[in-house]
Amino acid sequence: MKRQINESILSVWRHLLTSCENSPHLPCLDRRFLCTWWSNVQMGPPDVILGITEAYKRDTDPKKVNLGVGAYRDDEGKPFVLPSVRKAEEILHKKALNHEYAPIGGEATYTDAVAKLAFGDDSPVIKNKSNCTVQTLSGTGALRLGLEFITKHYAKNKEIWMPTPTWGNHPQICNMLNLPHKKYRYFDPKTNGFDLQGALEDISKIPEGSIILLHACAHNPTGVDPKPSDWEQLSKVVKDRKLFPFFDMAYQGFATGNVDNDAFAVRLFVKEGHQVTLAQSFAKNMGLYGERAGALTFLCGDAESAAKVMSQVKIMVRTMYSNPPLYGARLVQEILTAPDLRKQWLADVKLMADRIISMRTQLRAGIEGAGNKNSWRHITDQIGMFCFTGLKPEQVERLTKDFHIYLTKDGRISVAGISSKNVNYIAEAIHKVTA
Ligand SMILES: Cc1ncc(COP(=O)(O)O)c(C=O)c1O
Repeated sequence: MKRQINESILSVWRHLLTSCENSPHLPCLDRRFLCTWWSNVQMGPPDVILGITEAYKRDTDPKKVNLGVGAYRDDEGKPFVLPSVRKAEEILHKKALNHEYAPIGGEATYTDAVAKLAFGDDSPVIKNKSNCTVQTLSGTGALRLGLEFITKHYAKNKEIWMPTPTWGNHPQICNMLNLPHKKYRYFDPKTNGFDLQGALEDISKIPEGSIILLHACAHNPTGVDPKPSDWEQLSKVVKDRKLFPFFDMAYQGFATGNVDNDAFAVRLFVKEGHQVTLAQSFAKNMGLYGERAGALTFLCGDAESAAKVMSQVKIMVRTMYSNPPLYGARLVQEILTAPDLRKQWLADVKLMADRIISMRTQLRAGIEGAGNKNSWRHITDQIGMFCFTGLKPEQVERLTKDFHIYLTKDGRISVAGISSKNVNYIAEAIHKVTA
């Protein structure tokens, strides 16, 4: 009896589905009887960096190395939880805080602390409260929110100029927002260094009122930063052209090991009277990749204008994700505001930066020591997490195919993925594919 009922239900279903499938009014019904509204959606390309990690994970060779992903690793090749972060976690645990919503723009103690870290405790922008700073979903969230705000509220020339090359997500975010993006020269492939003349020449032709994107330090993907005297010239030409500087500071502390040195460009521009916008991230310098703690600051000239901008930013946030996440921001706040913890953190940042610098030295020595006649000076001249090796796509392909070393096609390596255990292997492999 039960079986009979089941079968008749099934036959009604079959009938319904077949008539649905054949109906001209239901074009979205696919062959497997699943109704989809998305039959027009094309397969998108996988994310370049994450795709490399996937390929690395599939590789079973014990010698494999992942130099693709921009995340710090310790000398064992393991993810690193900073001692200062561990301490902050314990403190937070003891505080047994609740999980109420954070304010739309984040807690004021957090936003004050991160703005001071960027602009300096004594900065006039902090003193006259002319900054509008909100917590964001890490650096990417700050860029997205900042650029979206620009598309809606910026009244001058809505186009953004980016260095060549730049982090791949910069143009992608602009594409999502239909914000036109153009390029200025930055990296010189002949010297593997900064193309100051090219940059100055190109920037001096950017239409007035345009936005210019600048990497504050530890440029990704090249590892090439302008010198302080170069920044002074850049500041002048940006001012002459009346451009709107948008700084991306995802690596404060990672370039030199000192957070104040790495904020040089941002602070110089502020001193020179630029009204900068700034995206900050604590993914790298606190190792809080997955916690998504970041900040966006608009400098607004005075407190009144800052309050107005804040009111509009809050409306934008409210309609996007309502309130930022608590945990990562609480860790950052704890670290930046407790003097002992902050001291520990500054030492942690230096430790990471120093290990990277030492890996650069060892890698260069290893390649040169193998008898390679090319110049590898740029490995130690470049700065921060990444090195633009100058390897050609076919050499990169050989590194991956023959040596199980994974990196992006443009020859960028994350120096943080090198350790004392694998540096000789990597150096030997680079020598072999370039000799
Ligand atoms: C130049 C640059 N900006 C911003 C980010 C944003 O990182 P996150 O969203 O993880 O803070 C990154 C991360 O790789 C980056 O390299």
